[in-house]
Amino acid sequence: MDILPADASPPPQASHITHRKDYQPPAWLVPDAALTFDLGAKRTKVSARLNVVRGAGPRGPLILNAEALELLSVSVGGRKLSADDYSYADDRLTLVIEGDEAVVETEVRIAPDRNTQLMGLYASGGILCTQCEAEGFRRITPFPDRPDILSRYTVTLRADRTDYPVLLSNGDPGELRDLGDGRHEIMWTDPHPKPCYLFAAVAGKLAALKDSFTTMSGRIVALGIWVRPGDEPRCQHAMRALKDSMAWDERTYGREYDLDVFNIVAVDDFNFGAMENKGLNIFNSKYVLADRETATDTDFDNIAAIVAHEYFHNWTGNRITCRDWFQLSLKEGLTVFRDQSFSADHGSAAVKRIQDVRTLRIAQFAEDAGPLAHSIRPDSYQEISNFYTSTIYNKGAEVIRMMATLAGAERYRAGTDLYFERHDGEAATCEDWISAIEDGAALDLSQFRRWYTQAGTPTVNATLTHDADARTATLTLSQDLPNVPNAGGRKPMHIPLKTALFGRESGARLGKERLIELKDAAVQIDFGGIEETPILSINRAFSAPVSVKATRAPGELAFLSAHDDDPFARYEAMQELMSDWLVKRARGEGEDAAAIIDAVTRTLDDQSLDDAFRAEAILTPADTLIVDRIGTDVSPRAVVQARRTLRKTMLSGAGHERLMRIIESGRGGSFDLSPEAKGKRRLRAVALGLLFADPGEEAIAAAAALYDKADNMTDRMAAMTALAGSDTAERVRVLADFHARFRSDANVIDKWFTVQAMAETGDPLATTQHLMAHEDYSASNPNRFRALIGGFAANMPGFHAEGGAGYRFLADQILTVDRINPQTAARFVAPLGRWRRFRQDDAAAMRAELQRMLDAPGLSKDVREMAEKSLA
Ligand code: ARG
Ligand code: ZN
Repeated sequence: MDILPADASPPPQASHITHRKDYQPPAWLVPDAALTFDLGAKRTKVSARLNVVRGAGPRGPLILNAEALELLSVSVGGRKLSADDYSYADDRLTLVIEGDEAVVETEVRIAPDRNTQLMGLYASGGILCTQCEAEGFRRITPFPDRPDILSRYTVTLRADRTDYPVLLSNGDPGELRDLGDGRHEIMWTDPHPKPCYLFAAVAGKLAALKDSFTTMSGRIVALGIWVRPGDEPRCQHAMRALKDSMAWDERTYGREYDLDVFNIVAVDDFNFGAMENKGLNIFNSKYVLADRETATDTDFDNIAAIVAHEYFHNWTGNRITCRDWFQLSLKEGLTVFRDQSFSADHGSAAVKRIQDVRTLRIAQFAEDAGPLAHSIRPDSYQEISNFYTSTIYNKGAEVIRMMATLAGAERYRAGTDLYFERHDGEAATCEDWISAIEDGAALDLSQFRRWYTQAGTPTVNATLTHDADARTATLTLSQDLPNVPNAGGRKPMHIPLKTALFGRESGARLGKERLIELKDAAVQIDFGGIEETPILSINRAFSAPVSVKATRAPGELAFLSAHDDDPFARYEAMQELMSDWLVKRARGEGEDAAAIIDAVTRTLDDQSLDDAFRAEAILTPADTLIVDRIGTDVSPRAVVQARRTLRKTMLSGAGHERLMRIIESGRGGSFDLSPEAKGKRRLRAVALGLLFADPGEEAIAAAAALYDKADNMTDRMAAMTALAGSDTAERVRVLADFHARFRSDANVIDKWFTVQAMAETGDPLATTQHLMAHEDYSASNPNRFRALIGGFAANMPGFHAEGGAGYRFLADQILTVDRINPQTAARFVAPLGRWRRFRQDDAAAMRAELQRMLDAPGLSKDVREMAEKSLA
């Protein structure tokens, strides 16, 4: 706690900072926990019986976290305590216990239908469900809510038979018993000790798509995906992904499932994507339900990736969990790396890599360069929910990927085998992981550890020179560590750079690709036998999460965009060409786009490239990346203008006909989810988007036809997105049709909100405000809020409209939702936190909104932490 001078009045909610260095083992452990739920939406009674024993921590009272609970009774050793025997204040129930073990019983009452934060036990539609990570379990029952306390759970669920026919929890089920009074009950037993954040319970009218999986040792696992009755057929894709994930983890990491039951439940109200509760994953329905009429190819891909992610947590997260929340990346970075590898193995690996890097750069590089920068193992936090960040997840995954690259496949596997062998059943640390990889893979990671402590994206500077007489090339590399908040030191990092040289005349690769390990601040590397002018291809496959600044002669990027044999590097060369142009243009410097047009048309015409790759390669870089490149004093309007100009130029260079041909090609074939078919649809969407850089009659008609004849959501969304950005009668018709067609499907209606909020035609703020008045809008459903308000925040000309009305609007919405769901509210502060990038008038307006939020009465600590840090 911060010390305040005696005369200062404390802020409305003094912020408590938790520091990593303060970790202490627990004073008390809970080997067994028996919970009984008398379930009801209005009122649920939770009775807990905990066996507690002293732990290795400092001797002291038993402190149970307890939040938003109505405490009915407490007893120790069977003796009921009176209110003077314990203290219950500041969300803690403190009990003084003689001796080294005891049985502690509590009874509490909670109100699931008033739980709008969606943490703890809450109601979604008619379903009761739980979310406990990170600190939601304390909103269910008093408990030492920290991940290093592992308990064996038995859970009895009692509820009305008609309203809650299905009752699920972790582990294996017992018999469903009728209680004779309209209620029934069931007991679930989870034999695996687990931290309380992995607890889950679900009750409701649910139906399951069922299947089974036989593990490598012959265990038959009953699989169920539970949804609203009628939706079972829409779970096929998720089920396929689940079975593929179970097989993949056996094959790739030697990891087998460990219970007889694995259930997934889909709910409509959920704060994020999904949750890996032991044997009972709970999902945002958006990441379960899919059929070709309602889900885009991206939705299908996301579903498979998230099903895999949560399943993989069974070993990386559940069997081996985190000692404390500072170790979050131990499970999240590793599990993201695992789900990325799974997706790469089930589709186009090159395209998957390109998409993952794009996400990393847009979200994580921005975070790492701004006021909220933190290392993948942070040193402190106020609200842990705010640390489920792109840095922990995506940069965390890149750090694991670098270790895998340094080790090579076989040694990496030896490292992970050792990790599982050493730490199964434990609450581990990032250090445990690094040591296991070091020992198992025979690597020296002493310098590499800085990736865990130092924040900020390193820059690698690269210059290649050629000595024609000596036939040698010299590569000079240096690294810079940025000066960001919480930098945690700026010592040289250990950076693996996949590197190759190409011959300018021959167009061929000169020798093999090399893995250069940059460890020093600066270094020179010689290449022999270089007969022709070499061209540098570096950080191939994005082998390290760094920014590369290479000195290049004119034409080198164009050369690489045509000749590089690493698909990522080839994509990168095109992105660089476009980024350079956009940066200059946004600064008001003229620039000829001939090289870009040439590269785009060549790429579009190169039939040896697959469609999905061609689509990615010709996409213009996101506005936010250009903003970051320019760095300071950016005019957001100039960035939008530059992007529009480039796209018009690309369109006229590529020609309408070429794009029309792509849009027409391969339509009307039968629908499938093969990489080829998905690639065709992706390229069609990207081509249509480019055509709408300057849409004529023909483009409008093509989009309208694509919409009307679509037999799948990918084409339909592509057409609607294009039209939504145009000022036409077809826009109005198609948007109305879409709503009428899909009005009963919330996940599809979210798309309808997002498309309009992101459309750049007209006045985006007015459009968004108009949509807020729509009967389907609700700020209390996180998906809907994200769809509309998140869509608007990503609308560059709308959000950054001159005068700051967009900023004011976002701050208002954050304040509104903060009263309902602080965790969700806090996620939307980051766009305002980017003020340092922008021109003075924009920056001042953004700062003013951050300050206005901080001045608002009753602000949550979630939003407070984000706003405070954003202003600092
Ligand atoms: N562990 C979940 C996952 O698979 C996410 C939990 C997010 N929790 C939170 N408080 N934001 O990634
Ligand atoms: Zn996860």
